[in-house]
This record gives sequence, C-alpha cells and structure tokens, in this order.
Amino acid sequence: MGLWRWPWTRPGPSGFDGGSTAEEVTAGVDASHLTAIVTGATNGIGKETARVLALRGAKVIIPARTLESGLKVKESLADQVPESKLHVMEMDLSSLSSVRSFAESFNSSHEHLNILINNAGIMACPFQLSKDGIELQFATNHLGEYDIDHSCQ
Ligand SMILES: NC(=O)c1ccc[n+]([C@@H]2O[C@H](COP(=O)([O-])OP(=O)(O)OC[C@H]3O[C@@H](n4cnc5c(N)ncnc54)[C@H](OP(=O)(O)O)[C@@H]3O)[C@@H](O)[C@H]2O)c1
Repeated sequence: MGLWRWPWTRPGPSGFDGGSTAEEVTAGVDASHLTAIVTGATNGIGKETARVLALRGAKVIIPARTLESGLKVKESLADQVPESKLHVMEMDLSSLSSVRSFAESFNSSHEHLNILINNAGIMACPFQLSKDGIELQFATNHLGEYDIDHSCQ
C-alpha cells in the first residue's frame, strides 16, 4: 500500500481504498492479450494509467492532440517500461470529425478494443465553443468520449 492515505476512506471488500495505487490493484494481472485506449494519457492520471497497463503487458493506444505530445509521452513511458507496447494516434476530443477519424483508423489497424478508459477532460474553463459550435467542456468531456465508446470496436 502507498505511504500516504486518504484519512476518510476505508478499504472496501477488495481490500483497496482511495489511496491504493494502480500498481497495487493490478499486481499479478497479465494483460498481455488486451488492447486499451486511454484518453488523456499525455498527462496526470491518464499517463499513470497508461504506464501501469503497459507494465501489465497491455497494448496501449495513446490518443494525443498532437503527435509530438503523444510521442514525448511514449518515449517517457518506454523508458520506464522498456517492453511496453504503446501506440500514439492523433485525436482532439473536442472535434467530432477528429474523434471519428481516430475511430476509423483504430478500427482498421488494431484488433478488438478490450479496455476503454475515458479519462481526458477539462474543467471550469471559460465559456468557449468547439469547432463544431458546442460548449467546449461538454464537447470534450461528454460528446467526444461518448463518440469513442460508440465508434471503436
Ligand atoms: N486531478 C484531480 O484531482 C481530478 C479531480 C476530479 C476529476 N478529475 C478528472 O480526471 C481526469 C484526469 O485528471 P488529471 O488531473 O490527470 O487531468 P490533466 O492532468 O489536466 O490531464 C488532462 C488530459 O486530458 C487531455 N485532454 C484535454 N482536452 C483534450 C482534448 N480536447 N482532446 C484530447 N485530449 C484532451 C489532456 O491532453 P493535453 O496534454 O493535450 O492537454 C491531458 O492528457 C480529467 O477528466 C479530470 O477532469 C481530476
């Protein structure tokens, strides 16, 4: 278990709690037959999730707003998990056409999708419209993620 604990959480029936790490909850898991998409893997929680899935052997797709930012993360994760199977693909969640072209490309070049982690998101941003004329936070956190769920097989 990690050193720092949330003071108000208690372990559930699984034995894990809010302070449990991704490595702890996946200890002993062999994910080498699985393909995962982790949105928002260029930063924060998504990056750590992608790292641990790769550590457990999964093929991890990293959708990134720019190939440059995705490749930077891939390089950093590959340093930590040399045997990792990481694939960077371009995708801007706030653009429906970008999400659809990501999904088409995923469906034509990868096997079945086993795990979808819809982690990317923005919050409390100033009012702004997406390319499609939809409020940006709603377009990113809801419509984009929903579209991936429905378009990737
Ligand atoms: N951290 C918290 O305490 C907390 C609390 C409540 C909820 N959450 C939610 O948990 C999730 C992860 O949090 P975090 O702290 O790890 O977030 P973060 O560090 O801000 O990372 C957000 C990720 O989402 C990506 N993203 C944002 N807009 C995107 C778009 N239009 N297209 C593609 N990717 C996009 C970012 O990509 P770029 O690198 O291109 O910016 C980044 O990889 C978020 O949805 C956040 O709202 C977090």
